[in-house]
This record gives sequence, C-alpha cells and structure tokens, in this order.
Amino acid sequence: MKTQAQQSFVASLGDIPGVQITECASQLPAIDIRNRHGSGRILLQGALLLEWTPSKQEPVVWLSPNAKFAAGKAPRGGVPICWPWFGPHDTQTDYPAHGIARTANWELTDAQHTDDGAHRLTFMLIRDASNSAFWSHDTPLTLRYTLGPALEIELITRNQSPHPVTISEALHTYFGVGDIRQVRIHGLDGSDYIDKVAHGQRFRQSGDVTFSGETDRVYLGTTAHCIIEDPVLLRSIRIEKQGSRSTVVWNPWAEKAEKMGDYIENGYLNMVCVESGNALDDRITLAPGEEHRLWARYSVTSLN
Ligand code: BG6
Repeated sequence: MKTQAQQSFVASLGDIPGVQITECASQLPAIDIRNRHGSGRILLQGALLLEWTPSKQEPVVWLSPNAKFAAGKAPRGGVPICWPWFGPHDTQTDYPAHGIARTANWELTDAQHTDDGAHRLTFMLIRDASNSAFWSHDTPLTLRYTLGPALEIELITRNQSPHPVTISEALHTYFGVGDIRQVRIHGLDGSDYIDKVAHGQRFRQSGDVTFSGETDRVYLGTTAHCIIEDPVLLRSIRIEKQGSRSTVVWNPWAEKAEKMGDYIENGYLNMVCVESGNALDDRITLAPGEEHRLWARYSVTSLN
C-alpha cells in the first residue's frame, strides 16, 4: 500500500514527457527522467538524486554499485542533502550525521518540462514524527533540480519561526572519476581548511588538490568555483556555486571504504565528493522571515 506521500507524489507528477515513476530496491519510489540532454533518477526518500548522466558522457553523479536501499537510510552516492547540520550534530552525539534531510520523506510539489528540453522538479521536505524529534524549528525546506545541458540544484531554507535559527548544510555530491589518484581539483589554492583526517587541524591549500590517501577537508570562506580535472575519463566537471562559503572534499580511501560496507572493492578509486555548502565557521543564521538559497551548477567538458 502506498503512503500518503507516495500517493501525492504520483498525482503531482501528472503526465510529463520523459518522466516516469519507478522503484528502487526495498520498493522505494523514484523518478526516472530522460530528455535530449541526458538522464537522471531521483529517489523520493531524501529527494536524493541518484544518477545524472549527460548525453554521450559516463555518469557524472556516482552511485556505489553496492549502495544499500532501505527506509530511513541514505544510499552511498548520489547527492545527499546535508541539512540542517553538516557532519555530526554540535551537541547531540546520538543525532543522525548530516542532519535529517537525506533520509526524510519529501513531497514532489512541481514538475515541469521546460521549453529548452530540460526537466525541473521541486520538492518540499515533509516534517513528521521521524524528524521533528531532531529539529523543532519552523524552517520549510525546498529543493529544486534542473536536469538540462547542466545539472542545477537549489536548496532554499526559510525561517518562519519568530526567532533566529542557525543551520549548516551541504550538497554532498558524489562525482564519478576514472581514477582518484590522477584527479586534480582546481579552485581552492590559497583557501584555509579544516583537515578532519588530521584531527581538525587548520591548513592552507597550496596549488591544486590531489589525492594519495584518505581526504576529508572543509575549505572555509571560499566562494570559488571548482573544476574536477579527470585525465582518465578525459573530462572536466565544472562546479559553480552561489550562497556557499564552504567546499568539502572527501574520499575515504581503501581502509575506511571497506569498513563502511557499501563500497565494492576499490570502489573508492572511482568517486570524489566535492560538496558546496556552509559548514563549521560558515554556518548561517537566518533572522525571522529570512530565506537562504544555496545553489550549484555542474557542467561537463570533454578534454579530447
Ligand atoms: C563527508 C564528511 O562530507 O561525508 C566525512 O566530511 C564523512 O567526514 C562523509 O565521512 C560521509 O558521511 P556518511 O555519513 O554519509 O558516511
């Protein structure tokens, strides 16, 4: 039997060319999108974009071949939304890591096929017993995906409560790469970062980011666009962003990936997270009635 959220999801989709309802494992409903620019899939739980593949490209958004799908769990990969906190909760160690949004139920509130052949889908987070225990503020959250020649993601937080509310957040995007050991990330030269692998010490980036071991860094005070240069897949992925002062770069490397249990052997070689958000020092405080918009745009250029 379908839940109320699932029923309204089916109803709100209507009959839009290129959009189909499907099911992932554990019967979790998802939306498949196909248009002349490429294809994608969004899991309704978490409104989590699982796949995005522009035409004539390898998948840009990475999903672990061993991703686990279950109610209340975020699969490994895609674009989990970290909100209203990033990483562990500041004070409550038993609260879910990365907040409530990535495992919450969401409602599809609008779906459009635009004149330029793109699809634009808008979701609203549903407040219910499963997440209200962790977050009691009246802060409606809207998430909008536009799948066109580029992928655009917009996350809008509104503070409807009568007091200021502080959030941290990230678009925790897993990008597919040919071999992490050959990847370079441009755009962070000179930025200060907190290195979670080095117990939270602060460093300053010098040159491009390259990878030779576990990497878990929160770059602070940076509004720069980044480029993932991938000489194996012969492409670069451009990450533009607005409303974001933090960029998180993460790869668990072999040992940690094995412990996580949802990577295949050597699966960590084929992904990197470059997350646009506002974390730690860059947390955001919204005054009553204020709105904050976090936006990112991903586009791909072939290098051959
Ligand atoms: C990154 C964090 O954003 O997410 C890492 O910086 C964390 O510390 C990673 O390990 C994955 O988190 P999770 O909760 O999806 O395993």
